[in-house]
Amino acid sequence: MLVAPSMLVADFARLGEDCRALEEAGADWLHWDVMDGHFVPNLTHGALPMAACREETSLIFNAHLMISEPLRYLDEFVEGGAEIIAAHIEAEDDAREFLEAVREAGGRPGLAINPDTPADQIEQLLPLLEMITVMGVFPGFAGQEFIEDTVKKVAQIRSMIGDRGVHIQVDGGVDTGNIERLCRAGADVIVSGSFVLQHPEGYATAIEQLRALEPDSGD
Ligand code: DX5
Ligand code: ZN
Repeated sequence: MLVAPSMLVADFARLGEDCRALEEAGADWLHWDVMDGHFVPNLTHGALPMAACREETSLIFNAHLMISEPLRYLDEFVEGGAEIIAAHIEAEDDAREFLEAVREAGGRPGLAINPDTPADQIEQLLPLLEMITVMGVFPGFAGQEFIEDTVKKVAQIRSMIGDRGVHIQVDGGVDTGNIERLCRAGADVIVSGSFVLQHPEGYATAIEQLRALEPDSGD
């Protein structure tokens, strides 16, 4: 299981320090939540703050683009150091074209899917993907309550994937109360905003608590 803390809940005055602290605490990837106030009802940032942190850590950067027309901004994220770039299947751009463009630009393509979008909409696109982000909440805000149907959707997508090497990332509302069910259903990358970054005992303890609940391999 890979743990990808969401920088949405980081201290924006100290992003670089938080990147280093999360790396030391045992994070695997860092997740950057990009919101445009149009595709989702909230605004965050573009590629600049992420790019500014690129030299602070060697962790893989995953850009989660919750924006309309993701293709228009793709190059900025590749140049800013995002290795894995995911847009939403619900965004206006053609998903196939976006995924091919990520690959051509030298990135690893991903696609995110909202709680109310049926899993079969991504089936045709699986050969083009390295990662599917299954949303555990409606995108827009950290700290929302996990939608339990997400577990079933993860299982459904895991069986669609078969033996292709595609990651299933779950994003939104993940904590120690649901991580075990998500892993058993087939998730292998866990995004965590509030649970890790607001944990009273610190990032390392939070990440350890999540990892402790990972079902044994072969289980
Ligand atoms: C939601 C974002 C998530 C979220 C994670 O729109 O994509 O990455 O902020 O934060 P928590 O873990 O607090 O739901
Ligand atoms: Zn996200």
